[in-house]
Amino acid sequence: SNYAGILGTGHYVPEKTVTNADLEKIVDTSDAWIQSRTGICKRHFAETGMNTSDMCTIAARQALEMAGITATDIDMIIVCTLTPDTTIPSTACIVQKNLGAEHAAVFDLYAACSGFAYGAVTAAQYIETGMFTHVLVIGAEVLSRFLDFSDRNTCVLFGDGAGAAVLGPVEAGFGILGTDMGADGRGGEHLNIPASGVAVLPTEEARKQGLTYIKMNGKEVYKFAVKVMGQTAVNALERAGIAPENVDLMVPHQANIRIIQSAAKRLQLPMEKVFVNIDKYANTSGASIPIALDEAQRQGRIKYGDNVVLAGFGAGLTWAALAMKW
Ligand code: ACO
Repeated sequence: SNYAGILGTGHYVPEKTVTNADLEKIVDTSDAWIQSRTGICKRHFAETGMNTSDMCTIAARQALEMAGITATDIDMIIVCTLTPDTTIPSTACIVQKNLGAEHAAVFDLYAACSGFAYGAVTAAQYIETGMFTHVLVIGAEVLSRFLDFSDRNTCVLFGDGAGAAVLGPVEAGFGILGTDMGADGRGGEHLNIPASGVAVLPTEEARKQGLTYIKMNGKEVYKFAVKVMGQTAVNALERAGIAPENVDLMVPHQANIRIIQSAAKRLQLPMEKVFVNIDKYANTSGASIPIALDEAQRQGRIKYGDNVVLAGFGAGLTWAALAMKW
């Protein structure tokens, strides 16, 4: 079988920034509370008219450029999002049109904050079997449109953005060497958007009742995240035959600095080996890992031959990780 790796990355965040001080004006919160409990200082919100597909397209073009391929070289596009432009067509179809990726099979994948990691594991299977050569995986969200700005428990935590990666064949022994994916649907109630599908339609009445917004039991999600994010990374590393002490960089889902620190502790990694940008972007769900990965690459934090582990957790509840040799 072939080896699959990441050939190029890109990211985009909308121009408008919202600081913690800005949120203090609309909800009973403080910059000190948000920073100390989460590590977040600001986030970016998409203006009306900027949709998930638009951000995907910008991030994807950067990833194609870094990978040195063109849109017609893409065999498949997976858009990982919980905030699609529309349920039909899928956001991946819109991105395919925007890019002119006429040879690509496309679909959206729903795994919330674990989405990009789920998508990258999925993409790798097609490359390893030889069915496809280049797969574009994008994580992108416009979460701001699903936030209740009267609920301080949730509205301070999230941001908008997109990150993309081109996966393709790499030398034997490089690329994605070990993966882990899982879910526990019993925890679904802890993080959901009640009126977002057929169970409760997102009607005007549902909107008035606040049912079209993200609802979260923060404590339950926190307990789950602390348990699972380090463990999924450990599982992927074990399958890759990489000892945790040989990890050069961990790129975790950016939901809360304290959750990231506990995952680092589980792997006994010093924080210098953990990429953190939650201060700038807050939790961008499916976009958080690919945005972080792209920033890490462009900042020179990842070199040829480095051992890199990506790990995420999210609504579902879900988790996934990839251990790679770069
Ligand atoms: N500003 C000020 N006070 C606040 C705010 C706020 N923005 N939000 C909550 N509080 C208050 C609470 O009301 C509570 O007050 P009370 O004790 O009087 O009731 C107090 O702060 C303490 O609340 P805790 O829940 O104990 O705070 P905690 O330290 O647990 O932090 C947090 C809360 C940040 C939400 C944390 O639980 C967390 O990060 N959970 C995980 C969230 C997460 O990762 N979600 C994303 C999942 S990924 C996905 O798929 C989208």
